[in-house]
Amino acid sequence: MSNVPEYAILKVGGREIKLPVVEGTEGEKAIDIAGLRKETGYVTLDPSFMNTAACFSKITFVDGEQGILRYRGIPIEELVKLGSFVKVAYLLVNGNLPTPEQSRKFSQLLNVNSLLHEDMRHFFDHFPQGAHPMHILSTMINALAAFYPNVDLRSMTEDIDTSTARLISIVRTMAAVAYKKSIGEPIVYPRHDLKYCANFLNMMFDSPVAPYSVRPEAERVLNILFILHADHEQNCSTTAIRTVGSAQVNLYATISAGMSALSGPLHGGANQEVIEMLKMIEADGNVKKYINMAKDKNSPFRLMGFGHRVYKTYDPRAAIIKKECHAFLQAMDIQDSLLEVAWEVEKAALEDEYFITRNLYPNVDFYTGILYRALGIPEDMFTVMFALARLPGWIAHWKEMIGGNTKIVRPRQIYIGKTLDQI
Ligand code: ACO
Repeated sequence: MSNVPEYAILKVGGREIKLPVVEGTEGEKAIDIAGLRKETGYVTLDPSFMNTAACFSKITFVDGEQGILRYRGIPIEELVKLGSFVKVAYLLVNGNLPTPEQSRKFSQLLNVNSLLHEDMRHFFDHFPQGAHPMHILSTMINALAAFYPNVDLRSMTEDIDTSTARLISIVRTMAAVAYKKSIGEPIVYPRHDLKYCANFLNMMFDSPVAPYSVRPEAERVLNILFILHADHEQNCSTTAIRTVGSAQVNLYATISAGMSALSGPLHGGANQEVIEMLKMIEADGNVKKYINMAKDKNSPFRLMGFGHRVYKTYDPRAAIIKKECHAFLQAMDIQDSLLEVAWEVEKAALEDEYFITRNLYPNVDFYTGILYRALGIPEDMFTVMFALARLPGWIAHWKEMIGGNTKIVRPRQIYIGKTLDQI
């Protein structure tokens, strides 16, 4: 960040004040209004933060106009080639790709922290049948602080590396346990001889009566999916993390808040909704009808997996997933008619004036669900998959936030309710 020899002039309340302009390393400029109220009595109004940078960050760079995504300066396309979610997680949380020795230590930490506390297992028995796994997971993550109480910021006796490795590792175990419980099968323990993604697939699909062996293609594609979802700067759930965390809440409660934000259908819940939408379109056999419904302002229907607050061009993650999706289905000899429906919907939307003029393109969620289906992941687990992948990003933002001089997040408002003389 640098101060540039440029400033904005604001004329307000009969005064003229100079506001400093700051510039990021990629040339993004911002008008610094932090001192505005003190100087003038005015605040700025920006509902839903459409035009507000809430922090400085060194983690992820997104250029929504050009379709660029980089973690710690490295293009997402390069990180996908690396093929290791664990290395990318390390990069996000620590700021550099691990050396072989750092990799070994990190994997060891993930391994030793992968087991669920035995007493926590019983919690899973008491959720109602059919409870959504995202609800179970956010509750269980919050409960972690009761089992591992050393994470309160002011009395943190555990080093951050251990707490963060535990989170990344144990949440994966919890997700698989939640799934096994939901289908009434015995839980499968993590195995130290399997890498992160293979271990997760094994915990999901191994059974005493039908032993599972992880296909390398499946392990590879899960690594790619997780890498692509690992961070996306100040999205809704990450903003929830930074907001809740700024009150110096413990790490687990903070992550649980992010998890709740992610569960919304306009955010991480969209991947599940895409599949439901594609099934509906397939059953109806009329793509045009749904394109028209999405355009109709009197209809609540939106084309799920389309549009993005930041990307005004093709989401670079969607481009990679679309290619991987096709290749994986072919390699595994899986026919999924929903892929063809998705292609048809995409083509119809991209040729339509409504979508063209609004710069609405497929986002990361449009093809993700089809890949998860091909991996055998049930639909109500899709958002959980997103959450597992996003953990390193959330942790990186939390670490960056607590490492800076962050004040508690507390926006202002413009009160429009009753005044005393109206009561
Ligand atoms: N289908 C139809 N119209 C859409 C869609 C869509 N999917 N997305 C945006 N639009 C329209 C809006 O109606 C609006 O039209 P208008 O200018 O005529 O009023 C215009 O495009 C701009 O859209 P906004 O809603 O203002 O865009 P915003 O940045 O607030 O929303 C969002 C972004 C929430 C992602 C939106 O595009 C959407 O709801 N998409 C579907 C849900 C989805 O796929 N979510 C996943 C996002 S990616 C992620 O979280 C990982």
